[in-house]
Amino acid sequence: MVPESQPTVARQAAEAVFARTHPGYGDTAVIDELRRTDFARLDAGGHVYLDYTGAGLYADAQLAEHLDLLQQSVFGNPHSLNPTSAAMTALVERARDAVLEFFRASPDEYVAIFTPNATGALRLVGEAYPFRPGDRFLLTFDNHNSVNGIREFARARGAETTYVPSEASDLRVDETLLPRYLTEVGGEHHNLFAYPAQSNFSGVQHPLAWIEYAHAHGWDVLLDAAAYVPTNRLDLSRAHPDFVVLSFYKMFGWPTGVGCLIARRDALAKLERPWFSGGTIVAAFVQRDWHQSAPGHANFEDGTVNFLSLPAVEIGLRLLDRLGVETIHARVQALGSRLLETLTSLRHRDGSPGATIYGPRDFDRRGATIAFNFLHPDGSVVDERYVDRVASCHKISLRTGCFCNPGAGEVAFTISRETLVGGEFGDGMTLDDYVDAIGLPSGGAVRASLGLASNLADVERFGAFALEFVDLAGVPNDLPPRIGC
Ligand SMILES: Cc1ncc(COP(=O)(O)O)c(C=O)c1O
Repeated sequence: MVPESQPTVARQAAEAVFARTHPGYGDTAVIDELRRTDFARLDAGGHVYLDYTGAGLYADAQLAEHLDLLQQSVFGNPHSLNPTSAAMTALVERARDAVLEFFRASPDEYVAIFTPNATGALRLVGEAYPFRPGDRFLLTFDNHNSVNGIREFARARGAETTYVPSEASDLRVDETLLPRYLTEVGGEHHNLFAYPAQSNFSGVQHPLAWIEYAHAHGWDVLLDAAAYVPTNRLDLSRAHPDFVVLSFYKMFGWPTGVGCLIARRDALAKLERPWFSGGTIVAAFVQRDWHQSAPGHANFEDGTVNFLSLPAVEIGLRLLDRLGVETIHARVQALGSRLLETLTSLRHRDGSPGATIYGPRDFDRRGATIAFNFLHPDGSVVDERYVDRVASCHKISLRTGCFCNPGAGEVAFTISRETLVGGEFGDGMTLDDYVDAIGLPSGGAVRASLGLASNLADVERFGAFALEFVDLAGVPNDLPPRIGC
């Protein structure tokens, strides 16, 4: 381990060794420089940030450029025609163009619609997808709850929801099974298939090749790219999902409150909006029950978009372009494989494993989001609430629980349908009460995820923290306090 306090020479030597053993890492030194110049607050505060799948972090320069723009300008609501409004409209449209360009999406094929977050984009699709009785909504077990929730729109309109299971061994979908689900459609129906390009639970990357296979069998495809795009190139000139959803704060930390639905023009034309609002129409009357929808993206942007934040989207995308998504990708792959090795090699004195990984145990077709639990020497799981407290003492920010992805959790913890339906989620119960009631040992896993500003020292400090769980026979009754330990 190379503690933070050790001299720079030792750290540089450790980094040189790491770069030799992890080809490609040495080419990412530009990020070490950025960490020094733009993320100094992490080291100044002693933080190890390992929750990039929860939220990305912003570089200081992003804030400075955004603030400078706001301080130098006068911006009005972009729905007007006056000079301050026109100036804002120009920047909103520039941000929109920058999004399409970043994802290499042809403006002839795709439209970028700004939303409050990825969830807002999913809701737009779910509430307007023309589900009818006989139609199908197909989705993987491995999905965020904001995708799972679309089943309620499907149900309300009489469409059938089907889940494709993940395999317990590595939380991937059985590739021989998927075609059976995708070929089970007949007649003239609207059928929607939704899956994440990268799991926010296990880091599994589900194949983008599914998109064309699904298209060939008459499905529209909704690709949840929220956990994928912060560290992977999504090239919409090569893959052509009908709907792509994402949140920008996950990509580059700032701004929060802005996401996007990138939709194919022909798929967008199928959507039936359940209402109209300010911003989405050309005209409406009160004395005549009629309104004319606005064309393209405007029909889907309800009310006033988060206009002052939108220039920060262009700034953030420019940062990713400058570093290169491929560089960030290579960086987190190398650091992620080290973190994974730390966990898979963790052993108690009697040789028993110190941790269990949920998902792939190597770095094949996965991202740097790693779900695990520490294990006691008797093989039982260390309560993740205790792990969270110990992590806080190390100033390590991890995520614990099931990460809004219950399907992946159910498979990871081998929770059967019978177990779930056997327990009543009574009024006033918390999730912890329910977990106890159905006889599960703990409420979830621990997740470490890497991103834009991660460095080797973060992973080394995680390694030192992991050693705290070696030979831990039981969890103390008194949890350490979160602050001041
Ligand atoms: C894969 C995935 N999809 C969707 C979401 C929802 O994103 P948001 O909360 O920004 O709407 C998340 C958030 O963690 C995610 O990881």
